[in-house]
Amino acid sequence: MAVVQEKKSLCEEWLKTEKKLLIDGKWVPAESGKSFETFNPATEKPLCRVAEGSKADVEKAVVAARRAFEEGPWRKMAAAERARLLYRLADEIEKRADEFAQLETMDNGKPVRESRWVDVVQTVETFRYYAGWCTKLEGETTSVNGKFFTYTLREPVGVVGQIIPWNFPMLMAAWKLGPALACGNTVVLKPAEQTPLTALRIGELACEVGFPPGVLNIITGFGPDAAGSAISNHMDIDKVAFTGEDKTGREIVKASAGNLKRVSLELGGKAPNIVFADADLDAAVRGAMLGIFFNQGQVCCAGSRLFIEEKVHDEFMSKLTKHVGTMRQGNGLDEQTVIGPQVSKDQMERILNYCDIAKKEGAKLVCGGESPKADLPNGYFVKPTIFDGVTNDMRIAQEEVFGPVLSVITFKNEQEVAEQANKILYGLSAGIWTQDIKKAHKLVSHVKAGTVWVNCYNQFDPQMPFGGYKMSGYGRELGKHSIELYTNVKSVWVNLD
Ligand code: NAI
Ligand code: MG
Repeated sequence: MAVVQEKKSLCEEWLKTEKKLLIDGKWVPAESGKSFETFNPATEKPLCRVAEGSKADVEKAVVAARRAFEEGPWRKMAAAERARLLYRLADEIEKRADEFAQLETMDNGKPVRESRWVDVVQTVETFRYYAGWCTKLEGETTSVNGKFFTYTLREPVGVVGQIIPWNFPMLMAAWKLGPALACGNTVVLKPAEQTPLTALRIGELACEVGFPPGVLNIITGFGPDAAGSAISNHMDIDKVAFTGEDKTGREIVKASAGNLKRVSLELGGKAPNIVFADADLDAAVRGAMLGIFFNQGQVCCAGSRLFIEEKVHDEFMSKLTKHVGTMRQGNGLDEQTVIGPQVSKDQMERILNYCDIAKKEGAKLVCGGESPKADLPNGYFVKPTIFDGVTNDMRIAQEEVFGPVLSVITFKNEQEVAEQANKILYGLSAGIWTQDIKKAHKLVSHVKAGTVWVNCYNQFDPQMPFGGYKMSGYGRELGKHSIELYTNVKSVWVNLD
């Protein structure tokens, strides 16, 4: 307990001051003077007030970003210097890894051992990975017909708007900022209203390490008819990158029509996680748990549809329920916690509502399905929940719950599961557990999903692209694919005749 207290104080001072917007290298209040509170979902207590940016603030940020893009030192800076700034930013975050982990846990609720060893570590890795790209952006020369010297240039897109969600606040900021800045764009970033704090802290460090004014602007605030939609509608933003709900994604696509800005979307999922009878069942149980309970199930690629081959259903379920029973739920700041609260009351209620729907649909509740009010009277907790006897056409199997709620569907054979896996509007990810390599590869190519994990789940690395098929969005983030998102190709013809 002493350890928790000591660590908590790492951001206590920082939380005492009201947070402002980052525009043109300066921290300024919202034009309206308004601010809002961000809460700790484990205690329901406010952490800090944050400026409520609106259209007027987005306007100022875009002007600053445009000036920084067209006239500032950013465009003229050597690629190696851009790289150095990104490396320095990564170093400064890493030096404060414990502070960032604490802050992320307080704002989002996730267990601190996850924020420390997943979110912070991968944030740092992502910035470093893209720092490396600055000096590796290349054009091509070609030999066309006629007397011409032809080549291509890879240039930044311009002013980029980035709208990110609350489930991985700092990591989503890194996935978006890393490649955008590496390619020489300028950015207006809007963190989610539920979790604005770590992005603001990253903004402070970006100023300290020397990113020129206007290169990174951060507007905290809300989405619809607010800062979010001001970004997606803005006529002088060249590209918008969004991660969040598919419904919001559609709004963003519509808003982009004004100036036909480029859009990349990373939306929801309802991933099939498929366990064959010949799998290493203990490993598959661990994979199923990681698939649905990691980050309280608030993961777009959560393995929320667990398909189990009939022959091993009973054995698998008894192993799974035994493990789930041992999960320690509580305040994420406690190092022993493995499952924290949901991010907000809204999300908790949404999840509990889905549990009611599942019961009405005839799914069999194995465990959970409610808030652990007796043990945890405060905070937005939902007990780890498993529904058995689910069929793929139920709402609980088709709609994104975004919580620690697993739907178990039994299947008889390979063909049946192959069909059902794809009977879904989404296509973000899938898991396959089998020792039969032929079966695994056949299913890998059959399943419509942007990421397939074979005998593993929820693995990430900045080098591996991530994104969706179908309604899970378009564009690929991470790896070299993000470079495509944040650059334009220019073809140059020089007459040699
Ligand atoms: P959301 O998509 O509304 O919010 C994500 C971000 O978009 C936030 O920064 C928000 O302020 C902004 N936003 C919202 N409406 C906007 C608009 N009209 N124009 C521009 N920006 C807008 O997601 P929300 O409401 O927080 O969560 C609802 C559900 O969405 C969750 O239960 C979950 O199913 C899904 N979701 C999926 C995520 C993913 O990683 N794919 C992340 C967060 C939520
Ligand atoms: Mg929303």
